[in-house]
Amino acid sequence: MEQTTVRNIVADDFRTAAIFEKFSIDFCCHGNVPLEDACKQQGVSVDQVRSELGALVIGTTGEQDSFASWDLDKLADYVIDNHHKYVKSIIPTLLAHTQKVAMVHGERHAELLTIRDIFKNVAEELTQHMMKEELMLFPYIKSLARSARDGQPVRIPQFQTIQNPIRLMEAEHVSAGNGMDTIRQESKIYSIPSDACTTYRVTYQELEAFELDLHKHVHLENNILFPKAILLEQKLFHAMQSN
Ligand SMILES: [Fe+2]
Repeated sequence: MEQTTVRNIVADDFRTAAIFEKFSIDFCCHGNVPLEDACKQQGVSVDQVRSELGALVIGTTGEQDSFASWDLDKLADYVIDNHHKYVKSIIPTLLAHTQKVAMVHGERHAELLTIRDIFKNVAEELTQHMMKEELMLFPYIKSLARSARDGQPVRIPQFQTIQNPIRLMEAEHVSAGNGMDTIRQESKIYSIPSDACTTYRVTYQELEAFELDLHKHVHLENNILFPKAILLEQKLFHAMQSN
């Protein structure tokens, strides 16, 4: 481990770039130094950096759960804790990276300017979208799950039925998905040109991971959480009417 360079660590797993940035450790132009030396130069604890790198690896394993069998409040929390948190944490990094590579390489690779602009748009839309889910839709879904367990009546929401916000959320998912799809095409499926620097490569890897995460995230909502919440609401409303 002592001789592993910062650059190699990033090459093995690009997500580590965000950790190095947090500690102001240069993984790009001056990344060809052992991790220990890089930490010493920046006056940061090598143990702390190693522990954050280790947590990243642990966090990605053993995540094959049968989400369809979960209670909806647990699933809503899972989406927030895993997907929303990730999106919120990576957006500032990706905004900085897409801007940096557009500035440095935009003259020779004009698509980087388009990618920067589209990503900025996706980031803004998704930030608003997640806020609506966290403040309005998910609390209601969680109240449905609790009512189903406790037998308590549901409060009729301001939006009358969950189908209204869900329609809007699904349209917003389509918009974010289209944005990332355009980025995929503009980047020629994240192909890295021979003159690319490490930041260029990391940016494409981060964008690809972002897209993949978005697909998983939207799948959980569109295909499991939302349809089950619609059915549960119908069931609970029906039970209230027949009482
Ligand atoms: Fe969503």
